[in-house]
Amino acid sequence: MSATGQKAPVGYNTARRPLPPEIVERSGCPFDPPAGRGELQREQGPVARVRLLNGAHIWLITGYDEVHQVLGDDRFSVDLVRRTSAMHLTPEQVAAGGRRAQLDLERTDGMFLFMDPPEHDRLRKVLTSQFTVKRMRALDARVREITTELLDAMQAAGTTADLVTDFALPLPSLVICELLGVPYADRAEFQERSAITLNTNSTPEQAMAAGLGLRQFMRDLVVAKRSHPGEDLLSGLISGELAADPPLTDTELVDIGTAILGAGHETTANMLALSVFALLENPDQLAALRADPSRIDATVEELLRYLSVPHTGPTRIASEDLILGGVTIPAGDTLVCSLPNANRDERRWPDPAQLDVTRPRSTAHLAFGYGIHQCLGQQLARVELRIGLTALFERLPDLRLAVPAAEIPLRTDMVIFGVHALPVAWG
Ligand code: HEM
Repeated sequence: MSATGQKAPVGYNTARRPLPPEIVERSGCPFDPPAGRGELQREQGPVARVRLLNGAHIWLITGYDEVHQVLGDDRFSVDLVRRTSAMHLTPEQVAAGGRRAQLDLERTDGMFLFMDPPEHDRLRKVLTSQFTVKRMRALDARVREITTELLDAMQAAGTTADLVTDFALPLPSLVICELLGVPYADRAEFQERSAITLNTNSTPEQAMAAGLGLRQFMRDLVVAKRSHPGEDLLSGLISGELAADPPLTDTELVDIGTAILGAGHETTANMLALSVFALLENPDQLAALRADPSRIDATVEELLRYLSVPHTGPTRIASEDLILGGVTIPAGDTLVCSLPNANRDERRWPDPAQLDVTRPRSTAHLAFGYGIHQCLGQQLARVELRIGLTALFERLPDLRLAVPAAEIPLRTDMVIFGVHALPVAWG
């Protein structure tokens, strides 16, 4: 509960879970998974038992096949609201037997990221039908325009910038405005609130107020779309050929809009900024891409695999006793999938620790998850990464870090890995 007595909506709780530092901190190469995860894998194998800082235990899953199995089997439940995740317990709750006395997360009607079948099926189906080829093509053109506008503003302001605040955060935020049909006049407010929920310098009260403000914003948007539908996704859910049948409630629509923002903003922003950092730190790979720009699609997949920004999750809870990698997982236990490790599994990729943009393009990585919750926005994310990275390196051919790499602040304390800031220079 917040100081205001209001419950935090699911989806805004992106800060660090009670994971011990050795499995979140990165020493040495910032792009490599935390060393402690490798040690656990060597000691216990790809299904390792880990004691959390709150005293509870989780299973950390580091093998490709095992993560694939967890995400592909819905007996590993995603319902972190009705079930108790070890990650959400206080030390007092763990000492009292591991059950939450009272949920401090509230799942409302349309939070399908935290739903199991059959609840999840209905919302996923209506939403999938909205991510149409036609809509994605139209967005492609807007992503180009937004990218150009952001780069124009960066160049007009001088020869240095923080790539996170000036490019990586606003690009996906504005693209989500396009997708949801946020009117131009309201975009600054939308972006500002959204940035506050993601800014680690925000106090919990500020983040909570911004999050609740965004929900109200989304509610007003839904009301507006009901009376004046447009070409956007929210309008498409409300009316037209692909509208949901039976109709969605206002709360479901608000939750869907909020879920898209929650799932698509922080992930894409960090993937963009971290990709730039990784390419600047691997000049041979950047040179290979520049020598053959048609490699961009393969490069994006390789960056998704190599960087795997969702670094502490997806999370699941065993709904019954289940066997995974030869280990019995008792019902009720929490599993945390380590995508950075799974995507560097030596059984799957030759020389997996190497960023290699010349690998054949492969979407077999798990950066977008797998199974029924696999990322709905992955095509859009790919478009943003392809257009954003291409334009950035074309427009600023001598782009470089403005501080030593060791001084770039890493987001090891967040569910989505990346950089808090990326000071860059050019010209
Ligand atoms: C590089 C950027 C992105 C990454 C790495 C990413 C990653 C993921 C992952 C790992 C999941 C699965 C979560 C789970 O199984 O619990 C997921 C789900 C989802 N993503 Fe993305 N995502 C990205 C961008 C986007 C964008 C741009 C959007 C929308 C505009 C989006 C919308 C969603 C939604 C709605 C889900 C939930 C699907 C469901 O529960 O059925 N994502 N994403």
